Amino acid sequence: MTSAPAFTPSANVAQLKESATIAVSQRAKALRASGREIIDLGAGEPDFDTPAFIRAAAQRAIDAGATKYTAVDGILPLRQAVADEANRRWKGSDKVTAAEVVISTGSKQSLFNACFTLFGPGDEVLIPTPAWTSYYEMVSIARATPVPVTGDPAHGFKVTAAMLETAATPRTKGLMLNSPSNPTGSVYAPEELRAILALAHERGWWVLSDEIYLRIAYGKAASSSLDVAPSRERLIVVNGVAKAYAMTGWRIGWTISPANVAAAMTALQSHTTSNAATVSQHAALAALSMRDEADAAVTAMVAQFEKRRDAALAILRTEPRIHVLAPDGAFYLYLRAPGAGKAADAGSAFAAQLLEKSGVAIVPGSAFLTPDWVRVSYAAEQAQVEEAMRRLVAAFRDLA
Ligand SMILES: Cc1ncc(COP(=O)(O)O)c(C=O)c1O
Repeated sequence: MTSAPAFTPSANVAQLKESATIAVSQRAKALRASGREIIDLGAGEPDFDTPAFIRAAAQRAIDAGATKYTAVDGILPLRQAVADEANRRWKGSDKVTAAEVVISTGSKQSLFNACFTLFGPGDEVLIPTPAWTSYYEMVSIARATPVPVTGDPAHGFKVTAAMLETAATPRTKGLMLNSPSNPTGSVYAPEELRAILALAHERGWWVLSDEIYLRIAYGKAASSSLDVAPSRERLIVVNGVAKAYAMTGWRIGWTISPANVAAAMTALQSHTTSNAATVSQHAALAALSMRDEADAAVTAMVAQFEKRRDAALAILRTEPRIHVLAPDGAFYLYLRAPGAGKAADAGSAFAAQLLEKSGVAIVPGSAFLTPDWVRVSYAAEQAQVEEAMRRLVAAFRDLA
């Protein structure tokens, strides 16, 4: 190995923190490699295989020569399929067009493209908190200021329009929304979303609506911003295939935005990653256009998630001191760590103890700016989820 040169990170990345969710997964993998049996409920990744009809479509695409660059913003049939799906929701006269869609290497890149294109020094961006760890970092990389707005835990940590209004200043430029939410699993009711979008519209804020978990909802369907927004003028809808179709590794996401913003994001992407992987775009096209097959696959996976959620909640509720939010969507349980309110970072202490002593990986809430809490993913086999919940209850009793 060469000796490492003296190195000062550039101002671009000096403030950057490693993604805590990935850090936990890595520690779990290291323990596993050393021979420990670990149940990993840290990752936000469906354990299912990508449905067979999608894999078959990708194989056909490779054989048909889908191995070259595409347009930077993606193949037209996929952009059109995204637009068509949006138009089944958006009832305004300004129909969504393919020119407003940019396909990227995962919704993570889509979110980054949007933050980097819309926000800069001096801008403040409201982030309902707890939120997915990368929102804060992406806003910071754009040298804008993330402004966490902590929701009410009694209300699934959801924020209200009034809370956002209180946190806003003349510098507020944008708002990140995520329903269903990672990490809480909370889902905004249509009227809650409508009130927030009406405020954003009135104030001229850009809204980045991350809808990556939209299709993973229990009981009733989750609302998209496209269902209730008063206007699409400053709305960027972000989605992708990773979670609903069990396609994390294919890396396909997209934005739906006004065409001039789409053009600016395409220019940015042209100098960073170019087009998303060609074969993956064809796989995503199958997921969006073969609707009967896709609906059947999604329905089956969501039913499994729901069973696991119910089984996990039943075990957690055997310990009345555990305060857990019952999720209506996504595949996470958010619960208050033992010692919360007393120790400075009760969530990290609990997550570390659970991993090292009980062999269960979860994510400390500090990753989501709520250090009293921890996030448990139930995107794992039900028997594993149940065993992990029994160990979690035992560890909670030890510490509480
Ligand atoms: C809220 C949220 N948005 C976006 C992403 C990124 O997903 P993708 O795989 O499409 O980049 C994740 C993944 O964990 C997420 O939880």
